[in-house]
This record gives sequence, C-alpha cells and structure tokens, in this order.
Amino acid sequence: MTDFEVYTEAQYQESARALRELAGDFRPRVLLILGSGLGGLAEAVEDPVTVPYGQVPHMKRSTVADHKGQFVFGRLKNTPAAVMQGRLHTYEGWSPADAAYPVRLIRLLGADTLLVTNAAGAVNTSFSPGDVMLITDHIMLFGMSPLRGPNLDAFGPRFPDMSHVYTPALQALARSAARDLGITLQEGVYMFFPGPQYETPAEVRFARLAGADAVGMSTVPEAIAAAHCGMRVLGFTLCTNMAAGVLDQPLSGDEVVAAAEAAGPRFSALVRRCAAGL
Ligand code: HPA
Repeated sequence: MTDFEVYTEAQYQESARALRELAGDFRPRVLLILGSGLGGLAEAVEDPVTVPYGQVPHMKRSTVADHKGQFVFGRLKNTPAAVMQGRLHTYEGWSPADAAYPVRLIRLLGADTLLVTNAAGAVNTSFSPGDVMLITDHIMLFGMSPLRGPNLDAFGPRFPDMSHVYTPALQALARSAARDLGITLQEGVYMFFPGPQYETPAEVRFARLAGADAVGMSTVPEAIAAAHCGMRVLGFTLCTNMAAGVLDQPLSGDEVVAAAEAAGPRFSALVRRCAAGL
C-alpha cells in the first residue's frame, strides 16, 4: 500500500490509446514541454491537432493561469512533435508521478526524445536576467521521485542510472544552434525546489554551495521519468531573475512572467532550431 496514487501500466496504456485516437494516430518523435514564456512556440507547429489534457483519461490538468493545458501535435520544421502547452507542477498539488505522466504517455506514442524548458532564478552570479542556460545536470534533494512506488518494468529498471540525464550529444546540438543564432548560452546545474514560495536567500546560498547554477520548481520529475524510460533529454532554463538574496530586492511572479515574455522570441528561436535537429 502507498499513501499516494500510483498508476498501473494498464492506465498508461488506456491513456495512450485514447490520446492516439484523439490525435488522429499521429506519431510524435519528440515531446516538447514548454515553460513560462514559450507557450507561443506551439503556434509554429504545422498542421496542428490540439488535445486538451482534460480529454485524456487519468491525466491531471494544469491550474497555472498562463499555462493552457493542452497537447499540440504536428510538425516543427520536419520533426513530428507533441508540444505541451502548460505542464503540471508539484506545487499545484500534483504528485511527481502526475507531473511525469505525459512523458510516459508520449513515450508510448513512440517519442524517443524530450525537450524541456523552464523559467528559473539564477544562482550563479555571473549570469544575468534573460540568460538562457543549457541544463547539464540537476539536483533534487527536496522532492519525491516520480518513480516512487512499484516499478513499472515496461518503462525501465527499478534503480535507473542518472549519470547522463541530459544527453551529451543533444547538449552539443544546443551549443551549435546557439552559436549559429548568435545567442549566448550559459550552462549549468538546475536545482529543484518544491515551491510555490520562492527560495529564501539562505536556501539560495545553500543551492550555490551544493553546485547549482539556477533554482526552479519544475522539469526534474519529467526529466527523471524520461531518463528512466530511455529517452534522450535536452533541457533549457530561462533565467528570468536573479535568485532571492542575490540582489537586494523582492521577487515577484509578475516580474518573472514579464521577463519570460521579453526573452520569448530569442528563446523560442533557439528551441525551434534545436527541435528541427532532433
Ligand atoms: N525560483 C524558483 N522558480 C523560479 C524563479 C526563482 O527565482 N524564477 C522563476 N521561476
């Protein structure tokens, strides 16, 4: 028995069957999970077919105001993609397994790659607000694993290796895409904090000592689930602000959304370029 909801393989299969039908048997190769500021990228999808999360059995819905809560299936350049407009965060009350649910679903539809983005606070003092950071690794000390509970061997092993969650070859692709576009690309370690409150200055100092370059409230549950089922992962962080205590000023959600929107076109160009090469 567990004190939280666990999903069975049959539930994933049932969701995948329903989603396949709703998406007109479209076979995505790549799943894009887009964080704040990038929701508009779904408009670049050609011949889009939209499926609201609420129509997929067993899948939870995003409650965040600027997250739409739907899949958009179609081609990004030539890459068959499933784009998530809005993700499920654990701070909304969803479990890590809920947050990671769509990763396994889209895996069942045939995707082998996850491209994931988020907005976060910069911990590395050499970064500036508006910087894009390529995620090279992550830290999750304060949050449950999406793999907690009985292991579903059909997806992956009980104790999966996490040495290369963020696929080195895709990091190389990202560096070269950034170079081609003339975009400065920072690199570093993303540290998960459960939120929804922003971190305290002491927590940010701790994160820096622990080796983090940015702190945020998403991405890691999805990346762990993707690595578990053998998917390649490429992750980007948009540093919308310096993390708490770096500057002597309070953080506000409005400021984060405004910074994400301002950086949107540049960030979106980079992500589109990478998606085309996946
Ligand atoms: N901390 C956590 N999540 C965030 C931040 C932050 O400073 N900025 C945007 N998302």
